[in-house]
Amino acid sequence: MNIPEHIAIIMDGNGRWAGKRHLPRIMGHRRGVESVKNITKACVNLGVKYLTLYAFSTENWNRPRKEIRSLFKLLDNFISTQIRLFNENNVRIYFIGDRKKIDPEIRKKMEKIERDTKDHKKLILNIALSYGSRQEILSAVKALSGEVKNGLISPDDIDEKVFSKHLYTKHCPDPDLLIRTSGEMRVSNFLLWQISYSEIYVTPKLWPDFGEKDLEKAIEEYQHRERRFGK
Ligand code: IPE
Ligand code: IPE
Ligand code: MG
Repeated sequence: MNIPEHIAIIMDGNGRWAGKRHLPRIMGHRRGVESVKNITKACVNLGVKYLTLYAFSTENWNRPRKEIRSLFKLLDNFISTQIRLFNENNVRIYFIGDRKKIDPEIRKKMEKIERDTKDHKKLILNIALSYGSRQEILSAVKALSGEVKNGLISPDDIDEKVFSKHLYTKHCPDPDLLIRTSGEMRVSNFLLWQISYSEIYVTPKLWPDFGEKDLEKAIEEYQHRERRFGK
């Protein structure tokens, strides 16, 4: 079958989806949440083990305050209402990113849903929120420097495995497949270390239009790729 074990998705194009319909951007984000639910279920059904969704980047903090506020309200609503989806589908939630900037009330709810789903095993769903890969790498460097300074490890001990264990994704293998919707050919500060050997699939479909069939198409293309890993 060769189903990718880990799929990472840059969920892009919500604003354009709304713009094409002369709707406010938030309507696009709202429809984007529907895609998140559909794709989560599809991954469970297909036997994907890890799904990492880019929901809000460190750079997205530079968006208008009103848009940021409505995005976090959507997230708040999503985690408060979707516990059934996670229970029924045996999905464990992790949030990856810099939580310090997130409202403490929402942060508490994020921690609660992580706790409440911690025994679920079918799919690990990582939601990248306030996530930036450069920031992630820098905090790994800082943590490792501290360990060296305190004599816990020597600089020679720092190999790829040790470094990976200091990233937010320490509980996951690297993504096999990276999908970006809405046609942009860039990675926008997402999982720079982890996607070294991921297969990349870009579709012009906007995220609110991306459904199960589109996911299957991406996986089918992945299955025809020859992964050489430099050999
Ligand atoms: C992706 O959609 C969602 C987030 C980045 C929060 P966008 O909001 O980037 O939509 P476009 O790219 O402007 O269409
Ligand atoms: C990337 O999309 C971030 C997320 C999908 C959360 P952006 O819309 O922010 O990226 P750019 O600005 O097109 O690079
Ligand atoms: Mg965008």
